[in-house]
Amino acid sequence: MRFKKLLFILSIISFVTRISAQTWVVPDDQKAVVAPVKFTADMQKQGEQQYLKNCQSCHGLMGKDNWAKLTPPPGDLSKEKAQVQTDGELFYRITAGKVPMPEFRNILTEDDRWSVIAYLRTFNPKYIQPTPVAKAAFTGRIVTLALEYSDPMKKIVVTASEQLKDGQTGLAAGVEIMLFVKRYFGRMQVGEIKTTNAQGKALFEFPADLPGNKDGFVEISAMVNDPKSVMKTTPANASFAIGIKTDKPGLTETRAWWSTRDHAPIWIILTYTLSVIIVWGFIIYIVYSIMKIKKLSREV
Ligand code: HEC
Repeated sequence: MRFKKLLFILSIISFVTRISAQTWVVPDDQKAVVAPVKFTADMQKQGEQQYLKNCQSCHGLMGKDNWAKLTPPPGDLSKEKAQVQTDGELFYRITAGKVPMPEFRNILTEDDRWSVIAYLRTFNPKYIQPTPVAKAAFTGRIVTLALEYSDPMKKIVVTASEQLKDGQTGLAAGVEIMLFVKRYFGRMQVGEIKTTNAQGKALFEFPADLPGNKDGFVEISAMVNDPKSVMKTTPANASFAIGIKTDKPGLTETRAWWSTRDHAPIWIILTYTLSVIIVWGFIIYIVYSIMKIKKLSREV
């Protein structure tokens, strides 16, 4: 009776977790989205690079079933579960993410996301790419961003310039700018979205406690905040020595404690070995003493 009750509770738990794991719904209009260009070998190669850099840590190598042990499981994207989905569905999932998968909206450009999909499709022999639909030609402004750090102001200055109708370049006012700092996983937004002033400039306060690399360098990038793509923009990337110097090894560096034994510091290996020897010596000594006592008692 108890056992049945337990089974019943267990089946409810598994049902609920299965249901909650399934609720990653892609809106219908997004499912129908197709790539703006025909996938090329170049795109696939670029997509592979992006995949290895951004996805492999969780999804493993394509076709090898060696994804990271996460809940819900990321799965191998070469398999049917992912491959039966439309390009639009995959694009949406990569763009929006779902905990623990990061959203790649601000990490990969749209072109990069499409090239990742081009790469994923190389593992599906049945895949035939739907006819590409180019995005509507934009009618908006063509904006280019530049980044600099102003030491006297202790601020990051983003300057937006735009291509004017007569072919000249002018400063672009009224452009919404987002600033990012590079972290292990993609980028972290710094501060609020700022709008450029009449001189095409937006000033960003920099958090004083932000860690940089061991020389204090922080990689910064600036983008135009424009979800509807009315502007074609060139983002800017730069590196400034304004972070706090941190000497922590990166997650991907080899000589780290959590890495394989070969890379562990020598003193840890020595301490560990020594304590193992001491503990075993103690155990052997106790066993030996017990045997000696037995022998003695038999003799008595
Ligand atoms: C931090 C770990 C992590 C990273 C990095 C990551 N993913 Fe995921 N991804 C997941 C998890 C976990 C799921 C499963 C989510 C679920 O089913 O609810 C998933 C699901 C997916 C799915 C849906 C698969 C399906 O079977 O429906 C796609 C497509 C996908 N990821 C693509 C990517 C791509 C492409 C990248 C790199 C640009 C990437 N992911 C990076 C963890 C990650």
